[in-house]
Amino acid sequence: MANIGIFYGSSSGVTKVVAEKIGELLDVESFNIFNMEEDFTDFDDMYAFDILLFGCSTWGSGEVQNDWRDPLLDLDNDKPSFAGKTIAVFGAGDYKAHGEQFVSALGILHDKFKARGATLVGSFPTDGYTYKYSFAERDGKFVGLPFDEINEADKTDARLEAWVESLKAELDL
Ligand SMILES: Cc1cc2nc3c(=O)[nH]c(=O)nc-3n(C[C@H](O)[C@H](O)[C@H](O)COP(=O)(O)O)c2cc1C
Repeated sequence: MANIGIFYGSSSGVTKVVAEKIGELLDVESFNIFNMEEDFTDFDDMYAFDILLFGCSTWGSGEVQNDWRDPLLDLDNDKPSFAGKTIAVFGAGDYKAHGEQFVSALGILHDKFKARGATLVGSFPTDGYTYKYSFAERDGKFVGLPFDEINEADKTDARLEAWVESLKAELDL
């Protein structure tokens, strides 16, 4: 059985709901789903898992959701190793109001944890998405799963189900 932990930051609950749906699809126990605001203490919480799914919506102009800010500063300062950990990222955005930085937080998380030695998985096709720019887009794909509950709520379930299926195949789950 894969040892999976889900950690999410979510200001209005959109990424939270998706984190819980992803958890259900992957049989992740609810006590292994961490809200960064309330449940996260330090990186030891993450070290307990082999596979880490990080949820983070994008705020400001292409910035990470508030509850990820201090952990990412600690990551830069303390430089903990994530070698041997497999990480995938997902998160909410708004392509109409913020299409110039659509889900860019996913790109930030991806780069920060890659720099700490993690193996990043779970890229997702950009097909069907509309936006001007995204820091989460690399080589024509997103580094993780974006969703937009404000403008495209009807697409979220199909997107997250497709992403989970691709993760299962990529990680042999
Ligand atoms: C002030 C503000 C700034 C935002 N900035 C961005 C942004 O840069 N890029 C983006 O894709 N979405 C942006 N959004 C949209 C949020 O990511 C969106 O509302 C999302 O559903 C919030 O998810 P959460 O409830 O999980 O935090 C912004 C929203 C607000 C209110």
